[in-house]
Amino acid sequence: MTAQQTKLQELPLDLKRELLPKHVAVIMDGNGRWAKRQGLPRVMGHKAGVDALKDLLRCCQDWGVQALTAYAFSTENWKRPQDEVEFLMTLFQRVLRQELREMVEENVQIKFVGNLQALPTVLQEEISRSMEETRNNRGIEFTVAKNYGGRQEILQACRAIADQVKQGLLQPDEIDEAVFERHLYTAGSCDPDLLIRTSGEMRLSNFLLWQSAYAEIYITETFWPDFDRSEFHRALYAYQQRERRFGKV
Ligand code: FPP
Repeated sequence: MTAQQTKLQELPLDLKRELLPKHVAVIMDGNGRWAKRQGLPRVMGHKAGVDALKDLLRCCQDWGVQALTAYAFSTENWKRPQDEVEFLMTLFQRVLRQELREMVEENVQIKFVGNLQALPTVLQEEISRSMEETRNNRGIEFTVAKNYGGRQEILQACRAIADQVKQGLLQPDEIDEAVFERHLYTAGSCDPDLLIRTSGEMRLSNFLLWQSAYAEIYITETFWPDFDRSEFHRALYAYQQRERRFGKV
């Protein structure tokens, strides 16, 4: 932890605890460019990205944010070079195994969203174990979006609902937002209040399309591995200046 981060152990004084977002979601972009800038292979950017994510999770715990969701691998990321995909899968598996004990002790509740059945079997086992072992934890809810696509999530919800209608278990006019939400991967979790994307890109990239309907979006030019507590402080400060109207005047 840098000296600057040590100073930011506690919620900074210019942030209001009662106005903190309950749920923060992050699109961790810019790992490859960060690595290139340092003259390193792209994959080293992902490795550094894991450290940034670990510190953000700790920071959310320290400052009182109740839920964090991170976009770790999209349904489109399979199109990357095979060695990068393999590196990401192995890294993910190793980090899960290494960090699980600590997350159990720190009361973190781990969840995964995405098409998990399409992931390598060993990884699926690691995912099931981490969800099972943290199921009764009541601290921060940490959700990892893995092989996740917002459109695919909406489509699979439509299919499941259509199937219920076909079986006569549900009437079409009974389909409302609450019914729909129960069929999303994120069923039972609250929507993100703040969505952060690093590296300056201004896109949602198929992330939490339904759930982000009223999220405040914050974009920073900083590459993900450099997104530290001072950056998070800036994002939260900007969020607290916004007026959230949810369609009202
Ligand atoms: C985007 O940067 C980043 C990713 C596609 C992967 C992010 C994954 C991690 C940080 C690992 C997460 C691990 C766990 C255990 C949750 P990019 O490669 O698109 O960067 P670029 O736009 O500069 O090329």
